[in-house]
Amino acid sequence: MSIIDSVEAEVHRLLSGEHTGHDWHHTQRVRNLALSIARDEGADLEIVDLAALFHDVDDYKFSGDHEAGYRFAKAFLAGQGYPAERAEHVASIVHDLGFKGAGVDDTMPTIEGACVQDADRMDAIGAIGIARAFSYGGHMGQMIYDPGERIEQHASFEEYRERSVSSIGHFSEKLLLLKDRMKTETGKRIAEQRHAFMVRYLDQFHAEWNGNG
Ligand code: ADP
Ligand code: NI
Repeated sequence: MSIIDSVEAEVHRLLSGEHTGHDWHHTQRVRNLALSIARDEGADLEIVDLAALFHDVDDYKFSGDHEAGYRFAKAFLAGQGYPAERAEHVASIVHDLGFKGAGVDDTMPTIEGACVQDADRMDAIGAIGIARAFSYGGHMGQMIYDPGERIEQHASFEEYRERSVSSIGHFSEKLLLLKDRMKTETGKRIAEQRHAFMVRYLDQFHAEWNGNG
């Protein structure tokens, strides 16, 4: 069994019961897009595929531990006899990946990391991103929209995480910011289209809300 096949089987097992937007289908979409970006960028495809596979296992939001995803990826790859330096690269991408607030640094030191991060963020915008935002919001008991709420650009991950906004509020605190944070040229191009679709969606949402749609 190749390393990709072993990791795929394990991650599929772990994520198949997950329905909060971090499910197996999300992982598959991120893999496919990350690999397609990686081909354009000339990145190491195996590192990209492995990091995409592991990226949401033991996510902070559900595990409450910033290092859990990193540790799991490293330990699993070590258990398969995968070279330590490459395992460290994969695990460090998993560690650095997530959005942590508008004002928080999100540097990705390697091109492989940039490919996976762009692909993960792409799945948070456009038509699929809209679906995931309302799915997550419903799961957390958030309102779809709260016209009086204050929108913040967070300077720390803790502030960002502790905040509870409506799902429409989440567009302003994260989703509308992602297009300008894409790191690869391919990512930037695809994000433009998806961003434009979200802006159209929000215009229609507000028009209907205000009785003009
Ligand atoms: P990332 O993978 O960039 O760290 P998250 O794991 O925070 O993203 O979020 C997973 C999905 O849930 C994304 O589509 C994200 O936009 C959505 N989501 C996260 N927080 C909220 C929120 N407060 N309201 C609505 N959707 C959210
Ligand atoms: Ni993800």
